[in-house]
Amino acid sequence: MRGLILSTTCLLVFLSHSCHILAQPPPPSVLPPAQDPFYSAPPQLEKHAPGEILRIRTAPAIVTSSFPNCSAAYHIVYRTTDAQFRPSWAVTTLLLPPSYNRSSASPRPLLSYQLAYNSPDIDASPSYDFSALTAPGGAVAVALGRGWIVSAPDFEGPTASFGAGIQGGHATIDNVRAVLSLLSSKPGSGPKPKIGPITKYATYGYSGGCVATEFAAELPVQYAPEMSRLYARPC
Ligand SMILES: *[C@@H]1O[C@H](CO)[C@@H](O)[C@H](O)[C@H]1NC(C)=O
Ligand SMILES: *[C@@H]1O[C@H](CO)[C@@H](O)[C@H](O)[C@H]1NC(C)=O
Repeated sequence: MRGLILSTTCLLVFLSHSCHILAQPPPPSVLPPAQDPFYSAPPQLEKHAPGEILRIRTAPAIVTSSFPNCSAAYHIVYRTTDAQFRPSWAVTTLLLPPSYNRSSASPRPLLSYQLAYNSPDIDASPSYDFSALTAPGGAVAVALGRGWIVSAPDFEGPTASFGAGIQGGHATIDNVRAVLSLLSSKPGSGPKPKIGPITKYATYGYSGGCVATEFAAELPVQYAPEMSRLYARPC
């Protein structure tokens, strides 16, 4: 992937999935994850495949307006696997670049950005406490400005498992699977971002985000065999 030399860890893959999406309306006000039903445990997790989208909503307007170079933002709940290898779930924030034209989207990269949120508090999850992602000239703004699609997962999961590398690796892998599944999702009601072709993706994370990124690079051999072409450099 050209232009991603800044990455401490790069993962390249070609993927395609299909899924059925349960659309949910945005909340009347922005609630912290501990109080927001959107973040609650989806039913029958074991019946869904890792990376499958379980809920999706247009992110609160404050999210889109806070990110430079962002035209639209979505929150996605997807199936993942916790550090004990039990079915679990996580939330990611999907950000679309300003130049994005759903009708004629040209192939573009997807950047999965793992924020170093380093907290055991679910309310510090980046989908809610996103201020550290919105710096003008920061990695997310620059990636969006280049026309890339960005996804920033709450990789610590629903119990904010700070330091749980396997949890973070699984949630990082599955957030990419979830976004790529939008490539083949069927049209219907509700906010379903119509993502154009994505030929490549990379993951990037610094500090605490690097832990999840590094585990995402090492886990595919057992967890995501379709990602066997992953390439990673040490953080
Ligand atoms: C988006 O793409 C469609 C199909 O190519 C085109 O008709 C439309 O004018 C484009 N919209 C913008 C804003 O460029
Ligand atoms: C928007 O993207 C461009 C191109 O990547 C970048 O140079 C610029 O700094 C970004 N804007 C902000 C406010 O970060």
